[in-house]
Amino acid sequence: MARIVLGIAGSPRRQGNTETLLDWVLAAAQESGAEVVKIRLRQLNIRGCVACEGCLDDGACVQRDDMQELYPHLREADSIVLAAPIFSMGMAAQAKAMVDRCQPFWAIKYVLRQRVVPEGRPERRGAYLCAAGTTFDDVFDGARQVADYFFHVLEAKKIGELLCPGVDAKGEILDFEGAREVAADLGRRLADESSGEG
Ligand SMILES: Cc1cc2nc3c(=O)[nH]c(=O)nc-3n(C[C@H](O)[C@H](O)[C@H](O)COP(=O)(O)O)c2cc1C
Repeated sequence: MARIVLGIAGSPRRQGNTETLLDWVLAAAQESGAEVVKIRLRQLNIRGCVACEGCLDDGACVQRDDMQELYPHLREADSIVLAAPIFSMGMAAQAKAMVDRCQPFWAIKYVLRQRVVPEGRPERRGAYLCAAGTTFDDVFDGARQVADYFFHVLEAKKIGELLCPGVDAKGEILDFEGAREVAADLGRRLADESSGEG
């Protein structure tokens, strides 16, 4: 069966650098036979977690906003690609809010002691795409930890990442050497139906 690859565009900038990276990944995944779902966070109303702890009881979020649309996709996808730029040395707020709202998955795992992914499903895969305007050595460190946490809590194995420093103005990603090839390779691996890579 074709794998479902969920792509999350986490930048407020329409067709910016990270969304371009995401599109390259998703195009390769689709060409490899995957079913692709793309969600643009800037089009959704996702509020911050309010720390009400409601999800600790039943693994569900009490807030009624567009995150409710996203939860089933996050649970059902076979592969998840998170694309979000560096803002203020961390993950852009739209994407970070979405990650914080994954607290119900944390509750399912660590409080309710259940699996996020039902038994018998192929192992899930994740990939992280990022761009930053500067080339500081540590510019990706904070956001990368958040992305690692996101995949961990969703029970997805991160199979790769594409971090592009020194990419600032819209479209500069087109000149980032090798990015298109690395993105395409990630897309193919996320779509791969064999369970070997997991
Ligand atoms: C509000 C804001 C904050 C930013 N903060 C940083 C930063 O701390 N470090 C950095 O290297 N780039 C920073 N940038 C630059 C972006 O990371 C860069 O423009 C990136 O290519 C944007 O990707 P996008 O087109 O997908 O939105 C910032 C940009 C904005 C708009």
